[in-house]
Amino acid sequence: MSLDLELLRSQFPALSISDNGVRRIYLDNPAGTQVPSRVAAAMSDCLLKSNANLGGFFASSVDAGRMIDSARARMADFLNAPSNDEIIFGQNMTTITMHMSRSIGRLFEPGDEIVLSRMDHDANVWPWVLLARDLDLTIKWLPFNKETFEFDLEVLDDLLTDKTRLLCVGGASNLTGTTNDIAAICAKARDAGVLTYIDAVQSAPHIATDVQAIGCDFLVCSAYKFFGPHQGILWGRSAVLETLEAYKVRPAPERIPDRFETGTQSNEDFAGVAAAIDYIAWIGDTMAKDYMADRSQLSARRQRLHAAMDLLFDYECSLAEHLIDGLLQLDGVTVQGITAKEAMSRRVPTVAFTHGSVAPADIAKSLAERNIFVWSGHNYAVEVAKTLGIYETGGAVRIGPVHYNSHDEIDEALAALATIVA
Ligand SMILES: Cc1ncc(COP(=O)(O)O)c(C=O)c1O
Repeated sequence: MSLDLELLRSQFPALSISDNGVRRIYLDNPAGTQVPSRVAAAMSDCLLKSNANLGGFFASSVDAGRMIDSARARMADFLNAPSNDEIIFGQNMTTITMHMSRSIGRLFEPGDEIVLSRMDHDANVWPWVLLARDLDLTIKWLPFNKETFEFDLEVLDDLLTDKTRLLCVGGASNLTGTTNDIAAICAKARDAGVLTYIDAVQSAPHIATDVQAIGCDFLVCSAYKFFGPHQGILWGRSAVLETLEAYKVRPAPERIPDRFETGTQSNEDFAGVAAAIDYIAWIGDTMAKDYMADRSQLSARRQRLHAAMDLLFDYECSLAEHLIDGLLQLDGVTVQGITAKEAMSRRVPTVAFTHGSVAPADIAKSLAERNIFVWSGHNYAVEVAKTLGIYETGGAVRIGPVHYNSHDEIDEALAALATIVA
């Protein structure tokens, strides 16, 4: 069986909500996706049956511990981490990065250099700028080409010097949708002896993520962008994590990953993350047989996850192509990202556009009046919006389908846009 949209959509109660008889069309997914019933059920189950702190001798605490172990194992499969202990949960990607930057910064000395990208969300920019300010480090910038919306990786060769200690870059832009060849970027960094911190918040929901193939040192993502609850996750290479001092209280365990998970965690969110990953694995089982390449070296769940992600991405590419095609036919619209049909696999389906005379916020508001949900503005991609020259003019409208959206919904959004910008 291939992708069964009706069956997939039936897993998400939010998709059948209407307001005053008008169905909701969720195209705000790069900001946060809806959750399948099983995620809400797992969270409710955790709260109702195993609501306890960890490490106790009694049943609810033992159950909570088991559930957390299983969430860690699932996340390890989702990222193809060599060890479950390399998975660190936290409130969200931004908070984790603020926290980890403090620990990572202890490895650096004044004058050391960090390379940041102009394509990144501010959550992989500002924590490092603040660190540089506090420790007297130097920031260097990897620009992107505003015609192609991609990096020129040769520039990176000049940026990596014997003073460079860290390179921070994203898997996919949350504004233009460009995906980056992070394996190639990390290879260059590794050759230069530079640590890498990858923001996979926008790539992980669309592309099978494999930290071993990427060859990075840290990778962060957020489960609420891939059908889970509001929870951030960091993968760290254990050999590097071992060298880091954690900012923690004295009684908290020294072992990894616990020493980086400060305070009492949101157990119910762990349960929700595990269920989100089970949902993707279920797609692998039920719909992605044709995508089951020979990956016999991987765990069975990892194989299902990988196949599901490949299936979903193919479908999402078709949605992106359809959407971009329609946008390009609207007078006055400029797509702020890759548009070539043959290049759909070099982007995620997150599509930003501007209009010559109608402001992004006005377009988003008019769509909201028709129950079509999109975001407008810079979406925290401050450097991206500045590079594109749209920071001062209200940013862009961002339409972000995922696998539960239909071509029919894209048509409805395009028809509404045609009226709005006419
Ligand atoms: C690319 C990217 N990085 C980081 C973040 C921040 O993630 P969080 O909300 O988990 O802090 C976002 C949020 O939209 C994002 O799109």
